[in-house]
Amino acid sequence: MNEIKTELLDEVIKAAKASYQLAYAPYSNFHVGASALTAKGNIVQGCNVENASYGLTVCAERNCISNAVISGEQNFQVIVIYTEQDKLTPPCGACRQVIAEFFEQSAPVIAVNHKNDRKVWTVQQLLPDAFTPKDLLDL
Ligand code: THU
Repeated sequence: MNEIKTELLDEVIKAAKASYQLAYAPYSNFHVGASALTAKGNIVQGCNVENASYGLTVCAERNCISNAVISGEQNFQVIVIYTEQDKLTPPCGACRQVIAEFFEQSAPVIAVNHKNDRKVWTVQQLLPDAFTPKDLLDL
């Protein structure tokens, strides 16, 4: 797994916590913040955004990645998922697929909560044998 300096990771976690405060989750009341460190060293953020038409809800991780892409960032070092649940929140299946599109297989995905409990996976562990650009493009 790729090493991220502790101070830098703390900044990413702080950003995920700030994103959590912005979550729009009136239906589930399950707030999620995400933050990623880009390959260029920038920190990008996202939160879950729900909808009265429930199926249109977009998770924090996917909003975070889309937010980065629209800022010109397509490569990432790490993504953090922040909740205030005792049980740490793993990314849902749809988010795993989107993470696999943009992150190296060895990149860490880190769930953190308000107690600073942490769980770390690699992208590979979350979605082995993922369908990625290499399966479509001549890469
Ligand atoms: N949610 C996320 O934002 N990320 C996840 O990985 C898990 C689920 C959101 C979607 C929905 O707004 C709420 O959590 C409950 O499912």
